Amino acid sequence: AETLRVGIAGLGTVGASVVRVLKEKEAELTRQCGRSITVTAVAARDKNRDRGIDLSGVEWFDDARALAASGKIDVFVELIGGANGVAREAVEAALHAGHHVVTANKALLSQQGLALAEIAEEKGVLLNYEAAVAGGIPIIKTMRESLAGNTINRVFGILNGTANYILTRMEQEKLSFEDCLADAQRLGYAEADPTFDIEGNDTAHKLSILTSLAFGTQISPDDIYLEGISNITQADIQAASELGYRIKLLGVAVRTESGIEQRVHPTMVPTASVIAQVHGVTNAVTVETDILGELLLSGPGAGGNATASAVIGDIADIAKSRPGFQHGPVFGRPARELTPYQRAR
Ligand code: HSE
Repeated sequence: AETLRVGIAGLGTVGASVVRVLKEKEAELTRQCGRSITVTAVAARDKNRDRGIDLSGVEWFDDARALAASGKIDVFVELIGGANGVAREAVEAALHAGHHVVTANKALLSQQGLALAEIAEEKGVLLNYEAAVAGGIPIIKTMRESLAGNTINRVFGILNGTANYILTRMEQEKLSFEDCLADAQRLGYAEADPTFDIEGNDTAHKLSILTSLAFGTQISPDDIYLEGISNITQADIQAASELGYRIKLLGVAVRTESGIEQRVHPTMVPTASVIAQVHGVTNAVTVETDILGELLLSGPGAGGNATASAVIGDIADIAKSRPGFQHGPVFGRPARELTPYQRAR
């Protein structure tokens, strides 16, 4: 089979990792997919910046939208970020051009996911977004494919690596909030605007996607009760610890008698519980279903290689698919209405 031509927009921490790993694992991926995967084009702002990756022979675009619409790629990988502007326009352009899309952009999907899914379904292309939720953890494939037939009653977890990293180091090393955040930024875990990490917005974006998959609801981050960790002090953490608890930023979506309730807030979890053992940049997602019971997935939730792992899995999925193949609706058909948190409380 012919090589799968990949165009990557955005060469930050994740984009650079994707380019590097695709190159390093070329033979392995060819064996697994039955065809080769080649990065043929990239789009990013600063052409002269040293990213430690080999881009020889790769076509350079200054504008992601031009790359997205280009006839020289089969898959458009969006790693720009942001719910609007270039990322959104480029993804739309790629879908309209009939290209498969892989995106890690939870902010975009939480605002435009269903509209983009409609275009993808109409065009008969794949819109894959494993990297958008919980970094390297394969929670999207698990929910879309492996848990078919299960009725999900609750999904919750630690969905932001930066926030969990901060809370962990504040507790274990008694460091200040500011120092921990600065380290998370230096390690490439945080969003471009870390407010989204620490105020819970990023967790809400991810939760809104999981809620839609779990319950067949509209994707609706504005219906989520939201409280971040920026007010958590060393004294709070120590007080919780003396009582036998740890503080974790959780995203929770649960089926209630009055509808689906979604919330994001710092939560006291018993020190002996499984979720309390999830440290650092690790994320964890628990899914409770009628047939399977309780499932817990945990793993690296942010960072270049962990997120690249999910992006590459999505690209390989496309490389293996037959033309015109779809996994069914991208998010599942919205069937139920959400209960806004005001009414559910
Ligand atoms: N800033 C995000 C986090 C990146 O810390 O979890 C992964 O989505």
